[in-house]
Amino acid sequence: MQNQLIIFDTTMRDGEQSPGAAMTREEKVRIAKQLERLRVDVIEAGFAAASPGDFEAIRAVAESVRESTVCSLARANENDIRRAADAVSPAARRRIHTFIATSPIHMQRKLRMTEEQVLEAAVRAVRLCRQFTDDVEFSAEDAVRSEEDFLCRVFEAAIDAGATTINVPDTVGYSVPDRWGSLFKRLLERVPNAGKAIWSTHCHNDLGMAVANSLAAVLNGARQVECTINGLGERAGNASLEEIVMAVKTRADIFPVRTVIDATQIVPASKLVSTITGYPVQPNKAVVGANAFAHESGIHQDGVLKHRETYEIMRAEDVGWGANRLSLGKLSGRNAFKSRLVELGITLHSEEALNAAFARFKELADKKREIFDEDLQALLSDESITPENERFKLVSLVAHSETGEQPFAKLVVSDAGIEAQSEARGAGPVDAAFQAIESLVHSGTQLLLYSVNNITSGTDSQGEVTVRLAKDGRVVNGMGADTDIVVASAKAYLSALNKMGLKSSRMNPQYGEEAPAP
Ligand code: KIV
Ligand code: ZN
Repeated sequence: MQNQLIIFDTTMRDGEQSPGAAMTREEKVRIAKQLERLRVDVIEAGFAAASPGDFEAIRAVAESVRESTVCSLARANENDIRRAADAVSPAARRRIHTFIATSPIHMQRKLRMTEEQVLEAAVRAVRLCRQFTDDVEFSAEDAVRSEEDFLCRVFEAAIDAGATTINVPDTVGYSVPDRWGSLFKRLLERVPNAGKAIWSTHCHNDLGMAVANSLAAVLNGARQVECTINGLGERAGNASLEEIVMAVKTRADIFPVRTVIDATQIVPASKLVSTITGYPVQPNKAVVGANAFAHESGIHQDGVLKHRETYEIMRAEDVGWGANRLSLGKLSGRNAFKSRLVELGITLHSEEALNAAFARFKELADKKREIFDEDLQALLSDESITPENERFKLVSLVAHSETGEQPFAKLVVSDAGIEAQSEARGAGPVDAAFQAIESLVHSGTQLLLYSVNNITSGTDSQGEVTVRLAKDGRVVNGMGADTDIVVASAKAYLSALNKMGLKSSRMNPQYGEEAPAP
């Protein structure tokens, strides 16, 4: 359809390239289920050749998603394309997204290839992809800094070779709306077979213009936008899905397109991605920030109460605010608990894991009357840490703070089943708890980020804590949730230490060692 704007979500591929945002297979399936509820057209589930774990995660997504197209990224080489094809093969609808850089700086410095070699590799890659699926996307990495005549030649050849979507990335976030829009206009006029493909825009946010640039492309003929939940992505991130979707919906008078997105699933998707990746959403973030619909000033409040449209251009409930789904209560049984987890895409490894999770749920339900989906997501946010790789576990914690006294924490941590106790004083109870943990584990890590967010509203809400740790160039995020934020903090710290201990040898598709072209 001429006026359908395809929403291509790359949270689990480009988003995953953010430091510490790596997702496990179970986490990806959970996010994919939510993206399906959101009704995104294409889910880019990862880069299959990155590692066996990445391959398995894409395959699991391909097995569990029925409605959306599942896609894997592949560099323009035979090994990557075969891995991608294999990973997406179980999907009802599958796409392979192959790319090669076309800018002089990338071709000379990274690929060490001539224009002709790049063009040939692009054609061979697209042809190989077509052996596995009819849905093939081709991207010219760093299109923004590429010579326009060469870009036109590559795109024309890629379409002739069978690419059905042509993606134009602003890989380094360098463009501005006017330039990006006019580039699309010229490409669509100059590439002779342009009409045989869908044109796509992929913008990074280094100058804060990813969304504006993507929308300029839409005004000039792009019919696919690549974007991520919460704008997650390399460096300053990608164009944010929620802003793109709500811009075209709210300004239907300007944008000649429509999406099939169910906008009421936007806020749940934002919260889930934030919980899983440990990237909190800034309060003043458009659409999904906690203040996006909060009217602080008295004048605004008066205006909004009299007539909502005086200060609001969208309704909070239309994007999923306040739609916290009351999931379960204190009296809910094990079966109700289990089936809600299945609906949320949460898989537990064994009956013991289910029993342990159910016991944790009952404990929470004793403290908190109403349990929402967000509570369950947070409660089980660490389920991907299986008993085999959960080295550190919080057994008990006592924290004390009193005005005029130095806060104090005493805790027991199990290290591979062996319990050890320690205590420390600190600037606050959280600082004391972290020092107590460190005096036991001596991890040598550096704390990069500590943040606390409430999961639902009310003072009985669970606090969700993110801890980002770095060591030897590796960055991991740990999450912990509890109605007691000192306990949540200790859990988050231990979760980050557990992740630090997991082996990781995944490769970044854009900076990894290049393999020979097909
Ligand atoms: O930013 C970029 O160029 C990319 C490509 C791999 C599409 O992410
Ligand atoms: Zn990108």
